[in-house]
Amino acid sequence: MTRPTELTIRRPDDWHVHLRDGALLHGVAPHTARQFARAIVMPNLSPPMTDRAGVAAYRERILAATGSARFTPLMTLYLTDATCPDEVERGFGEGVFVAAKLYPAHATTGSAHGVTDIAQIRPVLERMAAIGMPLLIHGEVTDAHVDIFDREAVFIDRTLTRLVADLPDLRVVFEHITTAEAADFVAGAGPNVAATITPQHLHINRNAMLVGGIRPHAYCLPVAKREHHRLALRKLATSGFDRVFLGTDTAPHAQHLKEAACGCAGLFNAPFALESYATVFEEEGALDRFEAFASLNGPAFYRLPVNEDTVTLRRETVTVPDVIDCNGTPIVPFHAGETLNWKFVF
Ligand code: DOR
Ligand code: ZN
Repeated sequence: MTRPTELTIRRPDDWHVHLRDGALLHGVAPHTARQFARAIVMPNLSPPMTDRAGVAAYRERILAATGSARFTPLMTLYLTDATCPDEVERGFGEGVFVAAKLYPAHATTGSAHGVTDIAQIRPVLERMAAIGMPLLIHGEVTDAHVDIFDREAVFIDRTLTRLVADLPDLRVVFEHITTAEAADFVAGAGPNVAATITPQHLHINRNAMLVGGIRPHAYCLPVAKREHHRLALRKLATSGFDRVFLGTDTAPHAQHLKEAACGCAGLFNAPFALESYATVFEEEGALDRFEAFASLNGPAFYRLPVNEDTVTLRRETVTVPDVIDCNGTPIVPFHAGETLNWKFVF
């Protein structure tokens, strides 16, 4: 079989990004806007985006920072124990946000105001089920007794299984899945449950973080797991299954905040996101399924139209820089110093 030298697909969307705020927003958002038409923007700022006014103002700041007329940020609401169902419904109805995000309290960066117990937000979830509004879930338990490598699988057993059984109409995106258990769960769930997968969880297992020295730039949450989990994720992503889609979880942190005694969680993968994913699909012999994962499955689940324009990747070696200056903040990107075999052209 001849290997294609160019790949043109409908322009993809990124269904999970952290764009930050202030000067850093201006440094990182253009990287996402360059490759993607739309992006689901996480609300875990400090303070978090917990109401319509805050989310609407943040959306304006993003539009100003990207400077791209063809990029559309899709906003999300940060759920807390105190979230009011009427506020959720109003914001969704007005188009201020397209989804709400559930961070279990203290699960990850910016989750201190998250939900302490899912029972606390039951009225909100019932309302979301009634109005067809997606719930985006960071699926990890926070119980100190649960090993960090088991937190996603335990979340499925303790929380997610019951949630989707109790509220079958609730539309759920199980975000940035990292385990074979999560892949199996989504593959076996009904039509209202979908998942996103990051490039890093398709490329690396936990050895990348811990062998030959500790590598903070491979550390994100949920943390990368064993090799058999990575293989299960690659299988699901490239299988053609229609409820799994692209979500980079690009989560930039300044270099010095990662290279620290207590380094921040999160990888900055936006600058070479499509190159990174395309590499995986090619390695799996599934380039013909890349467009569905990147550009079709997400809009179908979110009930949005697919994008009309296209992007092209060319077979060409690109070297990922060691550090990228993001409007004055040096950030080490995912794949720093490595070469990838695809180049984003336009
Ligand atoms: O690694 C991560 N970084 N995981 C998250 O859930 C949050 C994110 C961030 O905001 O930095
Ligand atoms: Zn995230």
